Amino acid sequence: MRYYYAEHQDAYRRLLREGMTQWNDLFGESWTFDDFPNRAFLESVLGRLVAGGEVLEYGCGTGPAACFLAGRGFRVDAVDLIPEAIAVARRMARERGVKVNFGVQDVCASPPGSKRYDVVLDSYCLQSIVTDADRAKVLRAVRERLKPNGYYVLSTAMYDPDRVYDGEFRYDARTGICYQETSVRSPDAVQLDGTWYLPHRRHLRPDALRTELAAAGLHVIEQDGGNVVAGLTYQAR
Ligand SMILES: C[S@@+](CC[C@H](N)C(=O)[O-])C[C@H]1O[C@@H](n2cnc3c(N)ncnc32)[C@H](O)[C@@H]1O
Repeated sequence: MRYYYAEHQDAYRRLLREGMTQWNDLFGESWTFDDFPNRAFLESVLGRLVAGGEVLEYGCGTGPAACFLAGRGFRVDAVDLIPEAIAVARRMARERGVKVNFGVQDVCASPPGSKRYDVVLDSYCLQSIVTDADRAKVLRAVRERLKPNGYYVLSTAMYDPDRVYDGEFRYDARTGICYQETSVRSPDAVQLDGTWYLPHRRHLRPDALRTELAAAGLHVIEQDGGNVVAGLTYQAR
């Protein structure tokens, strides 16, 4: 099992048990399903997007952003790693009377697909995809799925000087990788100073994120910290 699976599976199992509806409920935050953290950012980029265009969201969780865009007339395909998340997402879309084509998929293992989208959306998934190799797979999938003039719309957690990494967590400032101590010797585990860790999060600074996207063939059009709009490099606009 990959390093990003167990945490998310446990999270959504708890979410189901406790009758919650979206990721941030797990942390007692005051966001709601319809007033989700990157809603204001999405509203600010709507003007750029082809009205009624096709959207692919990966890491959609229970689908707040996917439902929001479907409610604004976009045709949305949305996938997540965890079946429990997708079960809740389908219910939330049904309750709102919006149509989203939800599915279970690991974005790191996405099959090459022929369907191309006007928008590929990531609402706080990329920070959980930690290793260089996995992030390269995700960004390749983004590139392969975007229409020539499409937009990659990304919201991701970033390095924050006030965030404390202590106890079981350890931060490598050179790579931006946060590791979590583990007793499981999976192929993803790494040994640092005699202790075993799993990759947990990638918290980059804005310039490092821009550099990573550029190396993956994605040109940043606008960026406010972890809120980014990018397009395929060398596409005339
Ligand atoms: C922080 S949660 C955000 C969920 C949702 N986008 C939201 O804003 O409520 C990150 C999501 O990414 C999903 N995820 C993590 N790794 C993934 C992968 N390899 N493929 C697809 N989804 C993944 C998790 O299951 C989780 O739903």
